[in-house]
Amino acid sequence: MIITIDGPAGSGKSTAARLLAERLGFEFLNTGAMYRAIAFRVLAQGIDPSDDERVVQCAESAAIRFEKGRLTLDGDDITDAIQSESVSLAASQVAVNPAVREVLVGLQRRAAEGKRMVSEGRDQGTVVFPGAEAKFFLTATAECRARRRQAELAQRGEEVEFESLLATIRERDERDVSRAVAPLVPADDAVEIDTSEITVAELVDQLATCVRDRL
Ligand code: C5P
Repeated sequence: MIITIDGPAGSGKSTAARLLAERLGFEFLNTGAMYRAIAFRVLAQGIDPSDDERVVQCAESAAIRFEKGRLTLDGDDITDAIQSESVSLAASQVAVNPAVREVLVGLQRRAAEGKRMVSEGRDQGTVVFPGAEAKFFLTATAECRARRRQAELAQRGEEVEFESLLATIRERDERDVSRAVAPLVPADDAVEIDTSEITVAELVDQLATCVRDRL
């Protein structure tokens, strides 16, 4: 059984997906972290994120593993390192590449085999798990999402100006929405929720109620 939660950066998907998975006793898959891992590897190897051929080679040879809430790349724990703004931007660049998406979609489907899973990203309900039992699409204003991102980065000791975060969020939104393969759009059968004015606890309650009603 699969539950998908898609939406733009800062819409609250990761936190909500993790908490919903905990509440239901499901596994949790953060697919944005996979694109970030490839971006991290690309940057570490000095590859230009728009160099399609080298980026694909980099994705094909990467060993990405999730274990106990941590992400490792080629055996190194990169959970915290992939949260930086430079990795965010590079992730949205490598995510435009169809061959990179193919590699990661394969990993995502394999990760879900035989499992009960809450999977979050941009294309989980539309492309990766079109037959998912429950689908959600979260939204929030760009300002609200930039504010959340600022608080998240501050907690990690990274101080970034609000205006610069807002500009990055808009740039990522634009790239995610307009790309040719697996653009960011709600699945026809997704429940859409605006998270701008609600707390995380309220959101998770709402998701859990919807899931119960649909099963
Ligand atoms: O969700 P997060 O902000 O960590 O994702 C980083 C980037 O990875 C996004 O800006 C998006 O371009 C890309 N992504 C994607 N498809 C997914 C998950 C993330 O294209 N399923």
